[in-house]
Amino acid sequence: MKEALHIHQQNYLVCLKDRELKKGHKPACIWFTGFSGSGKSTLADKVEQELCNKGVHTYILDGDNMRKGLNRDLTFSEEDRVENIRRIGEVAKLMCEAGLVVLAAFITPFRKDRALLRELIGEKFIEVFVDTPLEVCEQRDVKGLYQKARNGEISNFTGISSRFEVPEKPDIHIKTNNQSFEDSVKLILDQVLPRLAI
Ligand code: ADX
Repeated sequence: MKEALHIHQQNYLVCLKDRELKKGHKPACIWFTGFSGSGKSTLADKVEQELCNKGVHTYILDGDNMRKGLNRDLTFSEEDRVENIRRIGEVAKLMCEAGLVVLAAFITPFRKDRALLRELIGEKFIEVFVDTPLEVCEQRDVKGLYQKARNGEISNFTGISSRFEVPEKPDIHIKTNNQSFEDSVKLILDQVLPRLAI
C-alpha cells in the first residue's frame, strides 16, 4: 500500500467527553452482518428509529447507498469488498468520534475484516449477526439479484459465487427464523442502550 509521509496528528480543544455531555450519551457502532436480503437494513432502520425516539443521535450507513457515493469505484471482487469495509470502518470510526451512534448494514462477508473493524473501533463496536438462512434470502429475493446470480448475470454473488464466513462470536445473534422482528429489535436495544449511558 502507498503511504503518505510527513503526516502529523493534530489534537483539538473539544474532546469526546465534551461531545458525550452535549449529546447525553456515549457513541457506538452497531454493525449488522449477514447475506443480502437477510434484513440488515430493515432491522437497522427500526433500531435507529427507536433510538431516535429516545433522543439518541444516530446515523445509518448501508452497502447499497455507500456504493453509489464514496465507494462507487469498488466492485464485488474480494479485494474491493475488503476495501469497501475498510473505508466504511474508517467513516464509522470518525462518526463515533463525533459522538454518534452509527448503524452500519453491510454484508461484511469476511471474518478477518470484521476482526479488523473490532480492532479499529474498539469497545464501541457491536457486531450483530442477522442470521437468515441463504435459502430464505434466495426465496424472498426482494431485489431479484439471487435469480440474476443463478442465471450467471451477476458474478461474485455472496452465497452463490462468493463466500460468507459465518460469525463465530457475534455480540448479538439474531435468528430471524426463530424470533419475531419486534423481539429482534428489542434484543438489540436491550444490549445497546446500557452501553450508551454516560
Ligand atoms: S460487502 O460484501 O462489500 O459488505 P455491501 O453490503 O457493500 O457488500 O453491498 C451489498 C449489496 O449490494 C447487496 O445487498 C446487493 O443489493 C448489492 N449487490 C450487487 N452485487 C452484489 C454481489 N455480487 N454480491 C452481493 N451483493 C451484491
